[in-house]
Amino acid sequence: MTTTATEVFSDRIGRIEISATMAVTAEAAKLRAQGAKLVDFGAGEPHFATPQHIKDAAIAAIQANFTRYTVVSGIPEVRQAIVDRHAADFGSSYAPDEAVFTTGGKLALFNAIEALIDHGDEVILPIPYWVSYKDIIQFAGGKVVYLETREAENFRLTADAIEAAITPKTKAIILNSPSNPSGAVVSPADLERIVRLAHERGIYVLLDECYVYLQFTGALVSGGSFTDCKEHLVVLGSLSKTYAMTGWRAGFALAPKPVIAAMTKLQSQSTSSPTAFIQKAAIAALRDSQECVAEMRADYLKLRDRILGRLAEIPGVTCTKPEGAFYVYPNISKYLGKSGVPSAMELSKRLLHEAHVVTVPGEAFGTNEHIRLSYATSHADVDEGLTRMKAFFAKL
Ligand SMILES: Cc1ncc(COP(=O)(O)O)c(C=O)c1O
Repeated sequence: MTTTATEVFSDRIGRIEISATMAVTAEAAKLRAQGAKLVDFGAGEPHFATPQHIKDAAIAAIQANFTRYTVVSGIPEVRQAIVDRHAADFGSSYAPDEAVFTTGGKLALFNAIEALIDHGDEVILPIPYWVSYKDIIQFAGGKVVYLETREAENFRLTADAIEAAITPKTKAIILNSPSNPSGAVVSPADLERIVRLAHERGIYVLLDECYVYLQFTGALVSGGSFTDCKEHLVVLGSLSKTYAMTGWRAGFALAPKPVIAAMTKLQSQSTSSPTAFIQKAAIAALRDSQECVAEMRADYLKLRDRILGRLAEIPGVTCTKPEGAFYVYPNISKYLGKSGVPSAMELSKRLLHEAHVVTVPGEAFGTNEHIRLSYATSHADVDEGLTRMKAFFAKL
């Protein structure tokens, strides 16, 4: 007799699914293996190499045999570097025991949600959203409350919309600004109103600041600067995109001491301490000159304008102007339906097979009429990819 998946696996694991981006990436890998020259707008990671001084710090730490377990929450020096960087850039006010270093920003998010969300708790999640939130919330047993934003308003998130979605069961709100996938930035005024509203209602705001340094709209803004609301703030940080360190797995959280203690307890029973020498590299990244961050941001801004200009050449494709991160989220609805392809997923697949351009379909982010393109790539690839796309759409 054969056992079925429902008999073997926990309810918990059945509540999540493998990332919706996997279907396209798996097919892309197959085509690449067959020798196809793909233009890859799929991967959400910087095309830059990790800056040399960060690599040097890791190598020096290994040579100095800094290769053993550390304290679970990260060595005091890395937590001090995290709180100092955030205070200097955003005016936040955290002590090192209000910080935990994690093996990537995603783990900080996972640990925070596992520590805070119980069965039946509601978490407000604005659409479009980064793929992993809903699965991580559901893994914890929480209920995702989706919140529509309007494309005509640049996917703007307002305190009024959040307020309307709050129920007695609301435990947390996810804010991801700049947003993956839309690049939308919550305005400083909206951010303050949301943070204050949540604080008054005793609701946690999980601020995913993965792209906080990749804002193109003047001053960098963090909800962490509203220090009088910090009792209900959990800042989730990542070094991945800021310092081109995706493979290093370096992230952190800033939160009230009891929340950090709960997250650390969970970490103590899963990954234990983060990798020792990565912590030394993170200190170099956070403490040394931030020139590299500004240089990369300047290139992303040029790439954004280049890709927006090229997208505008495709009849019927419209696109909001991203104010941060390194994604564009064009609306391709004119090409869907009767005379076109049935879905964004199908469109992405055809773009891959017929034009050899990798994109991620909007279904992964909770909308059906978009595709996401990461422009964290070379200017030449942007040109080549958009030339191919223009020809593809002309034939549809
Ligand atoms: C919105 C958002 N949050 C968090 C992460 C996690 O980044 P990491 O785990 O590499 O630090 C990502 C990665 O793509 C992201 O796009």
